[in-house]
Amino acid sequence: MVQPVLGILTLYLNDKGLLEEKPIYQRMTLAGKKLGLEVFVFTPADVNYSDNRIHAHIYDTASKSWSRKWRSFPHMIYDRCRIQRSHRFVQLSHFRKKYGHLTFLNRVLRNKWTVYRTMRKEDGFVPHLPMTRLYESPGDLTEMIRKYPLIYLKPINGTGGRGILRIEKQQGGEYLIQGRDQDRRIVRPQRASLSGIQGRLASWDLKGNRYLVQQGIQLKLPNGRVHDYRMLVQKNGKGEWEVTGCAGRIGASGSITSNLHGGGQAIKMQSLLSDWIRNEDTAADIMKKAEDFGVKVAAYLEESYGRLCELALDLAIDRRGQIWLLEVNPKPAREVFAQAGERETYKQAIVRPLEYAVWLYDQKKRRKEKQDKQDKQVPSLD
Ligand SMILES: Nc1ncnc2c1ncn2[C@@H]1O[C@H](COP(=O)(O)OP(=O)(O)O)[C@@H](O)[C@H]1O
Ligand SMILES: [Mg+2]
Repeated sequence: MVQPVLGILTLYLNDKGLLEEKPIYQRMTLAGKKLGLEVFVFTPADVNYSDNRIHAHIYDTASKSWSRKWRSFPHMIYDRCRIQRSHRFVQLSHFRKKYGHLTFLNRVLRNKWTVYRTMRKEDGFVPHLPMTRLYESPGDLTEMIRKYPLIYLKPINGTGGRGILRIEKQQGGEYLIQGRDQDRRIVRPQRASLSGIQGRLASWDLKGNRYLVQQGIQLKLPNGRVHDYRMLVQKNGKGEWEVTGCAGRIGASGSITSNLHGGGQAIKMQSLLSDWIRNEDTAADIMKKAEDFGVKVAAYLEESYGRLCELALDLAIDRRGQIWLLEVNPKPAREVFAQAGERETYKQAIVRPLEYAVWLYDQKKRRKEKQDKQDKQVPSLD
């Protein structure tokens, strides 16, 4: 019997062949083995386009070591490529175009602005979407600042809390501007009048860098730190969407973002939520609603963009218990669960895409067998 093969598609982080997430891929290779699934890792640069072979990175679970071997194309591809400004990303676009007909566990999601507009088309999601607009001229910012006491400015292709600004109206009418630069360093907070804000932001080139302006949700804990939640929604071994877990994140002191790479701290959702929403029943109800919402969002985005196997949602819950969607992440890290002390969730988060791959392979095989049988039954015309 042929063993199904899953290729994890990733990108080198530099020209020296540095691979991201190697420890996760080791775990995936091991978990795949237990499921009867062969796993290897490759990047577009490892593909020989002339003979359709791949110089794959293979983890040997017995010797616990990595080596390179030539392989033919896998049955399925799990795309873990994160956006980067480099020639490697251009190579990735070529790869996706040339091999778009192959079976991908997950197709490409779009930038924050496009995803937001897609989400807004569905009435049921609208109450969960902070009002957002693309920054096209200074008027967009001024209008949003007039409407909301707190706003966030975010690059539409940003990740990890880079290049994010927060503008909050202060008592007395002044505005406080805080943020993180492109290298994720916390910038010195500044104060400005309404008319002075644009001047303070001149160096950020909000238009050229394609920013969106978003209604801010008040998420400061009594200790002054911001917080939110990271929900992982994945397909399971039956091909159905399921919430694998949801963990809280508390931003570093003086930070306007909660991202773990920016010094954020992971914590169990329940303990964070029960401090924020004192009533136990209300908190339980919110958790349930958030899970329903997560599954609906995943199913809807899959309908819109093509097959997906997992998404991580950055969710905010305001003081009134309203759930807000801050961002959808198509290439989620799983570390938040390990750091929140949720070992089981962490393990599941790694295994589920593999279980889904096995399910998908079986489905395809069965469909093909059925088709072959039907083809045989059709009497030949000649
Ligand atoms: N509208 C908002 N209101 C309050 N906090 C926000 C808002 N948007 C983003 N944040 C904070 O900034 C963090 C990073 O924003 P996000 O949209 O997730 O971008 P990134 O892709 O950089 O993670 C969020 O996790 C949250 O802590
Ligand atoms: Mg985020």
